[in-house]
Amino acid sequence: MTDPRLLTPSRADEDAQDEGLRPKRLDDYIGQDKIREQLHVSIEAARQRGDALDHTLLYGPPGLGKTTLAYVIANELGVPVRTTAGPVIEKPGDLAGILSNLQPREVLFIDEIHRMPPAIEEILYPAMEDFELDIVIGQGPGARSVKVPVERFTLVGATTRAGLLTSPLRARFGIVQRLDFYAAADIEEIARRSARILNVQMDDEAATDLASRSRGTPRIVNRLLRRVRDYAQVRANGRVTLEVVRAAMQLLDVDAYGFDDSDRRLLLTIIDKFSGGPVGLGSLAAALSEEEDAIEDIHEPFLIQSGFIERTPRGRLATARAYQYFGRSAPGRGWF
Ligand SMILES: Nc1ncnc2c1ncn2[C@@H]1O[C@H](COP(=O)(O)OP(=O)(O)OP(=O)(O)O)[C@@H](O)[C@H]1O
Ligand SMILES: [Mg+2]
Repeated sequence: MTDPRLLTPSRADEDAQDEGLRPKRLDDYIGQDKIREQLHVSIEAARQRGDALDHTLLYGPPGLGKTTLAYVIANELGVPVRTTAGPVIEKPGDLAGILSNLQPREVLFIDEIHRMPPAIEEILYPAMEDFELDIVIGQGPGARSVKVPVERFTLVGATTRAGLLTSPLRARFGIVQRLDFYAAADIEEIARRSARILNVQMDDEAATDLASRSRGTPRIVNRLLRRVRDYAQVRANGRVTLEVVRAAMQLLDVDAYGFDDSDRRLLLTIIDKFSGGPVGLGSLAAALSEEEDAIEDIHEPFLIQSGFIERTPRGRLATARAYQYFGRSAPGRGWF
């Protein structure tokens, strides 16, 4: 059985140990070239004007570097960053307090911004748009609203679910960037960079192989690298060779595609229980006893991206690749 925490792109407790691996500057941030170039221009322009960068929304599947990029942006701007998360802000006063204490041009990073309660979100609107807070003083008929200025700041929001953002909030971001799965070559470069930082000797073919099992996800390649490092240390002479990667991956039940049991179960459910689909998300979730959100956010994006599942208006469909993966031929696309 694959350790269910090994290949899930969601964050485990590891990000703290990962601190040393997290790129600090745009130049160390590997891949996502288009995003990097666009941000470079916007950051440089803001810096030259001495103004805050436009509010920036970063979205995309877990583990692709949204949080990392938020800190990179602040570093490149040369400003402090204050971090909070949507579900953590409970009272409107909490957010008002944070906003009124910001330094000029500071970055306010709100992770999981789609999970912010509506009453709190409304405080953000005038703050983002006009750099002021609408504060209501008193109650009942005597209540009045006063405007309190806040410093010009940059809100960086991160979410795995841009679709859940309300449109007024979304509309207030000047910069919107979608992070996608990384190309194999970029993941390989991340593996080599992380190995250097962790002082691990790794052969080139080993890096290539490790990268191809990492689902285009930096967090996963770093996690697998730590596991092969352990394996190399205990079962070999410390050097990560192709043989070491293969043996370690076999021990950990990570296949050549980086699929684990939950991926196989998902594909087989579509193929066997729903005759290959199309099957609606709700029925699929019920058949798997999984949350719809978890399927949509965590399990399915990489399977779609790598062409094993197709999302059609009538539901999810297993592709010919999915059948081939199990050594079967796709119905209607076989020999007849
Ligand atoms: N472009 C990159 N180059 C090198 N390493 C990266 C890159 N992006 C991310 N990483 C590494 O991957 C790890 C996960 O990235 P990060 O925490 O930023 O992902 P995330 O998108 O915020 O995920 P989540 O949605 O779960 O919060 C980081 O600790 C970092 O070491
Ligand atoms: Mg994050």
